[in-house]
Amino acid sequence: MINHGGDLDAISKKYNIKKDTLIDFSGNIGPLCISEDIKNIIINNIDAIKTYPDKTYENLKNAICSYCLCDKEDINVGNGATELISLFIKAYNPKKALILSPSYLEYEKELKNINCKISFFPLKEEEDFIPNIDLLIKSLKDIELVIICNPNNPTGYSIKNNDIKRILDNCKFLMVDETYAEFENNSCIPLTKEYQNLFVIRGTSKFFGVPGIRLGYCICKNKEINDKILKLKDLWSVNSFANIIGIHLFNNKDFIYKTKHIINTQKQMFYSELSNIKTIKLYKSNSNFILCKILDKSINSSMLFEKLIKQNIIIRDAKDFALLNDKFFRFCILEEDNNKKLIKELKNIFE
Ligand SMILES: Cc1ncc(COP(=O)(O)O)c(C=O)c1O
Repeated sequence: MINHGGDLDAISKKYNIKKDTLIDFSGNIGPLCISEDIKNIIINNIDAIKTYPDKTYENLKNAICSYCLCDKEDINVGNGATELISLFIKAYNPKKALILSPSYLEYEKELKNINCKISFFPLKEEEDFIPNIDLLIKSLKDIELVIICNPNNPTGYSIKNNDIKRILDNCKFLMVDETYAEFENNSCIPLTKEYQNLFVIRGTSKFFGVPGIRLGYCICKNKEINDKILKLKDLWSVNSFANIIGIHLFNNKDFIYKTKHIINTQKQMFYSELSNIKTIKLYKSNSNFILCKILDKSINSSMLFEKLIKQNIIIRDAKDFALLNDKFFRFCILEEDNNKKLIKELKNIFE
């Protein structure tokens, strides 16, 4: 089974720590909890469990449309970004795909499920894991599908639209997982109007901090792909609550503004507090998480994890990502109090 961040139940059991006392820097979940408004919406709509959700998700798609400024007929919704990654790969069914590496581990799993031949485009440590787009384009011969996580988990770097366009001009099909895009305001959704070979996936788990409702959506101009996805998808895979909550999340301008503000200011705090420590290196992030390398020879990522869990702090040990090793870890940005706790502990360990 693939190891993911945010596995609080397993960690709570293993270390015998109450789940609600854990401070989770591993799941990349946005810093704000669900607002009082949303709690009231759930309570006031409790009767929704008595009926099936609208199978066309008309109102939800309208809300996504105004949030993303895309065309409504180009949207499909799913049970988290996870369902849409799986459905798109099944629907497009490529024989040969290319993944940038290291990246999110589920793409490889889904491609293996359809017996697709997988190539990896290495993101190099000596280039701070920033992709060389010229080289990437040169390696696209025979490739039917390119998969990019943008910003990339776990490296945090995001490719800008001028380069995304160059890739689109040179590849058969491009799937972009924009699970973390709203943390940075860099999205290729506007390009879906021009490019039939672009499939963009989004979720609500991270930016809106609601992984439990399992709501994702995708945008693509290609009608054949959209129809295939609808054929493959289980009916009502987005449940009534996700349907109702989703509509309100996308309209919640105050929450959206506050989340962006916290991420921007707190990210700066992490860089200014930790950049001076000589025994860790922080990579530049365009997202809500930061990848770090331990330069101290006497500590590895598992040891660091064990030290921090004693303070109820969970970081993501990044050693199981391809091309990374037991010197890498990742943490996400939470609210100021918790961020300060992590900074204090990291300073104690590394200074
Ligand atoms: C890049 C990326 N895509 C997708 C997912 C899964 O998202 P969802 O909860 O919307 O299924 C994750 C979760 O960690 C992720 O990091």
